[in-house]
Amino acid sequence: MKKDFLTLSDLTRIEMELLLRRAADLKSGKNTGLSPLAGKNIGLFFEKPSTRTRLSFEAGIFQLGGNAICMTPNELQLGRGETISDTARTISRYLNAVMMRTFSHATLETVAANSSIPVINGLSDLHHPCQALADVLTLIEKKGTLKGLKLAFIGDGNNVCNSLIEAAAILEFNLIIASPEGFEPHSGILDSARASAKSEIIVLRDPKEAAVMADAVYTDVWVSMGQEKGAEEKKKKFTDYQINAKLLSCAKKDVVVLHCLPAHRGEEITAEIMDGPHSVVFDQAENRLHTQKALLEMLVT
Ligand code: CP
Ligand code: NVA
Repeated sequence: MKKDFLTLSDLTRIEMELLLRRAADLKSGKNTGLSPLAGKNIGLFFEKPSTRTRLSFEAGIFQLGGNAICMTPNELQLGRGETISDTARTISRYLNAVMMRTFSHATLETVAANSSIPVINGLSDLHHPCQALADVLTLIEKKGTLKGLKLAFIGDGNNVCNSLIEAAAILEFNLIIASPEGFEPHSGILDSARASAKSEIIVLRDPKEAAVMADAVYTDVWVSMGQEKGAEEKKKKFTDYQINAKLLSCAKKDVVVLHCLPAHRGEEITAEIMDGPHSVVFDQAENRLHTQKALLEMLVT
């Protein structure tokens, strides 16, 4: 039976730990000579721009011996009105899996329901689970363990934040989120994560309170793709939520700073912090490659 990866909760804790171990092995060059995707075609579908997701999937599929086929809606009959469910049924006949970046999470669910191949979420309005896999690998690398770890997410309670909430519940690390009023993470995702979590998942208002004694601080853009309407007004509500030297001084001395990228330097994070000694953002970007290769091995082969 096929297995989709639409949200992080599609993996059990055991599967996620296995995947993270395999990603670390792939990164260190262990058993990398295998070509588990030989003869297989993986579709990569983008309704929105992408640098990291597109390149890490395309490069990773090549390294695993497979073939990547990139698509945008307007290159397909989808752009001329063919339904998403008919598209899903058709592509299942040619491809072995499809990764999709969509505006609406419901589009991914429709594709998953109408196709016989694994569907991987490469970012939707609600979740960014591939990002969260790379994030936890980065935290393990930099901090040694997730046990007792305190991660502060400061900013918009968006897709990236929602997937980190699921990661915290599944892998049992503490997550303290600080967001302005009206920009908290999705309440349904938060409630179901809290219902199963053994660790703390807290949402508060004050960024300093979140950053105090944090082992890691994470931020993302204040305006996500597709949410540009009213962006300037929105940004004014986030000025106190910038990751800068002053805010970081509340955290532990050896705090690491994460950002899924792309960053808007001078908005949610200063250039000084992005380029400074605490920043691990490019290691984090690299880890997209290793975790997604492990994910493809798990779902497709
Ligand atoms: N972090 C991330 O998903 O980056 P891209 O938008 O460049 O794919
Ligand atoms: N929250 C951002 C993440 C980009 C990788 C967005 O959805 O645009």
